[in-house]
Amino acid sequence: MDAIKMLKTRQSQRDYEEYSIDLKIIEDIIDCARLAPSARNYQPLRYVIIDDKKIIKDLSKNIANAKFFDKAPIVIAVFAESDAKFKLEDGSAATENILLGATAYKLGSCWVAGYQKDYHTYVEKLLQCPKEYELISLISIGKVKNPTTRPPKKDLGSIISYNKFE
Ligand SMILES: Cc1cc2nc3c(=O)[nH]c(=O)nc-3n(C[C@H](O)[C@H](O)[C@H](O)COP(=O)(O)O)c2cc1C
Repeated sequence: MDAIKMLKTRQSQRDYEEYSIDLKIIEDIIDCARLAPSARNYQPLRYVIIDDKKIIKDLSKNIANAKFFDKAPIVIAVFAESDAKFKLEDGSAATENILLGATAYKLGSCWVAGYQKDYHTYVEKLLQCPKEYELISLISIGKVKNPTTRPPKKDLGSIISYNKFE
């Protein structure tokens, strides 16, 4: 897929078919995250691929803003070393690469907030995250069933200016 088209077609998708996904594809998507920029190239991130239906159901039941996870064949949890200075930026760059990698594979995905959310300790415990790490994000991935329409986005002209903030 043409890269610009791919960037412009990414959307959050929350409805997935009951269809398992080749884990080689998921690992390749995480390879896109591995190659994301990180401050000072510190690379403080770890990824947990969740394909166990029971764990996915637990996440869906316990995270109010991720009820739709119960339809996802895969959820990826992104963790960062707690002491890393730019963990949120590094984790966010990697998370976006996962969304884009999924789009390139014509899969739907949705970013769910993790960092400092009230459920972060629940997720960390469920996934046996060591105490030196903390949750940054969760991402569902699946073959899209009913695609959502794009939510409204601001016009380009209303958010750019040249040489000074206007
Ligand atoms: C940091 C961050 C946290 C998000 N958390 C959630 C979430 O908890 N639940 C959810 O359904 N979507 C979540 N989203 C997805 C946004 O709702 C979505 O990106 C936004 O509505 C714009 O839609 P689009 O991704 O289709 O452009 C999150 C996105 C970001 C960047």
